[in-house]
Amino acid sequence: MTRRILVTSALPNANGSIHLGHLLEHIQTDIWVRFQRLRGHAVTYVCADDTHGTATMLKAEQEGVPAEQLIERIRLEHASDFRGFLVEHDNYYSTHSPENKALAELIFTRLKDRGLIFTRAVEQLYDPAREMFLADRFVKGNCPRCGTADQYGDNCEACGATYDATELGAPRSLISGATPVLRASDHYFFDLPQYADFLRAWLGSGTVQPEVANKLNEWLDAGLKPWDISRDAPYFGFLIPGTTDKYFYVWLDAPIGYMASFRNYLAEHAAPGANDTGFDDYWAPGADAEVHHFIGKDIVNFHALFWPAMLDGAGFRTPTRIHTHGFITVDGTKMSKSRGTFINAGTYLKHLRPEYLRYYFAAKLNGTIDDIDINLEDFVARVNADLVGKIVNIASRCAGFITRQFDGRLADALPDPELRARCVAAADAIAERYERGDTARAVREITALADLANQYIAEQAPWTLARDPARSADVQAVCTQGLELFRILMIYLKPILPAMAEASEAFLAVAPFTWRDLDTPLTEHRINPFKPLVARMDMADVEQLLADSRTEAGVSNAAETPAEAVASSAAEAAGQQPAAPATPTISIDDFLKVELRVAAIVAAETVDGADRLLRLTLDLGDSRRQVFAGIRSAYQPDQLVGRMTVVVANLAPRKMKFGVSEGMVLAAGPGGEEIFLLAPDPGARPGMIVR
Ligand code: 2FM
Ligand code: ZN
Repeated sequence: MTRRILVTSALPNANGSIHLGHLLEHIQTDIWVRFQRLRGHAVTYVCADDTHGTATMLKAEQEGVPAEQLIERIRLEHASDFRGFLVEHDNYYSTHSPENKALAELIFTRLKDRGLIFTRAVEQLYDPAREMFLADRFVKGNCPRCGTADQYGDNCEACGATYDATELGAPRSLISGATPVLRASDHYFFDLPQYADFLRAWLGSGTVQPEVANKLNEWLDAGLKPWDISRDAPYFGFLIPGTTDKYFYVWLDAPIGYMASFRNYLAEHAAPGANDTGFDDYWAPGADAEVHHFIGKDIVNFHALFWPAMLDGAGFRTPTRIHTHGFITVDGTKMSKSRGTFINAGTYLKHLRPEYLRYYFAAKLNGTIDDIDINLEDFVARVNADLVGKIVNIASRCAGFITRQFDGRLADALPDPELRARCVAAADAIAERYERGDTARAVREITALADLANQYIAEQAPWTLARDPARSADVQAVCTQGLELFRILMIYLKPILPAMAEASEAFLAVAPFTWRDLDTPLTEHRINPFKPLVARMDMADVEQLLADSRTEAGVSNAAETPAEAVASSAAEAAGQQPAAPATPTISIDDFLKVELRVAAIVAAETVDGADRLLRLTLDLGDSRRQVFAGIRSAYQPDQLVGRMTVVVANLAPRKMKFGVSEGMVLAAGPGGEEIFLLAPDPGARPGMIVR
């Protein structure tokens, strides 16, 4: 039976580039989609950019362009990045679309009519200079628990406390620098608690992985709260019907963007005049088509609590399944700009083939929410060992004989039909792994079959047989067998390696592979000359990629010092795309406000509980200072004592968890081991002004 399946990946934000984290998800989804298509199912895979919110508004302002122009530019970039990784969305749309506006309004109105929406006054920090309410990430101040300065409005990076922005000491707006004031305004709420029983049943019906259901059930046990779905002007988004200054919160219209992208796709692909054909087949209650969302574990509450409740409340069907994956790490730690492991799609594609990454991700993804680590050495070794050493090796060892000695003709029959049968017998198990997103296991099973094929070729040694003219038919038969096994493996791998599969189809001179092609062996057929299907990966290319990523991070973030790298990797750790800071020029007067002085390091020591910091005691000639510097990854304390350096001497003291930092030492470099403390030439004395 042909299944009709609508598939989505989470919508990337329209204010940053596509990076490894997005790629993990979209490649995972694309593999699943291609697998379903290979099996003959009717799949539509849609996505879009998630465009709304304050961040987009501010970025557009910063660039001096209308938000619409900014988001369209980024949408085209994103769509092209995904194409570069062979991710085949049927539609890559935008949440700022007429379809999304109409659907958001419809859903809101239906929820309201069913008594699921209410309003309530909310007190929030307000920027009196910029005349806008401040979301937590746009306000900083002193942690209410430990007093550390410069903490965001929701949690403290020093002590881990979570709190309300209104509790921050000495708060300041990151938008204008003004001191925020408390102000009340009416907000719209979705009455989620009415859906508690519905959600408990929904989560228990196989719609999410068990570990996700467990987590969300804990939330249900703790009691659901109404969900605040409005934001006050100014905001880039859709106005709430009946208001002139209240907008839908970006997370209200983002998932509706899945439906809108699908509706737009149908309009573009239906017969003229039949605009919405099929929409209800997918979205009406009880529709027999399937809806699958692929997401990261940080956004399960939006997809597995708010979204099904909203859909049901508004008279639509709920998703068939939410496929949740874990976070990505590189060499065991969070992606980091300073280490060069915050890798953008475009940068990767300048150095490496997309299928290397597709294969590696597939070899790691196991259908659970465990984090996925890219170990760079393992990445290179695995791709070379499996793709080059195992899979392609089968074809390259057999093809030459067929081309040179038999004018491309395969034998009429296979000499070892049992071996072929063994490879085909794995089909159902492999399909099952794909279906459940356990591509790691599918890959293990496929490469185990490749081992069998290589063993067969090694044992039969066509290169030895070829020396004896009387064994010519055996050479043809053995190589035909080898190429048949290769064909089976490439059918299995086609969802993961679509370009290699296409090149294999061309080499074997066959129509695009389908799962059904496993039924019939390829014999009595003429193939084309073999061309290399994949090049070996080179660690030097990976290193170049990291170097480029570091440079890029440096270019777009020229102000980043090792100390700031600590802050920006904290933002990365929190899963935020650090906003690309503007680097406007400054006047000489601005520069002269910075007092740089020569300092001698008289003591240096590690700081308990702070892996990256050293506590330095500096002699400035007339005084001594304590400075915490994020340079521990590059220096041993005793290497520093007695050295001269340069310090920002008039930086306001910063209260940290470990003590007060009274300045900042200057250093160059991307971070990690590559931090280079600046030092004056010999002769400079502590306290001298640096100009
Ligand atoms: O977390 C994010 O990056 C969101 N832009 C994902 C949105 S997914 C969907 F709900 F639109
Ligand atoms: Zn704190």
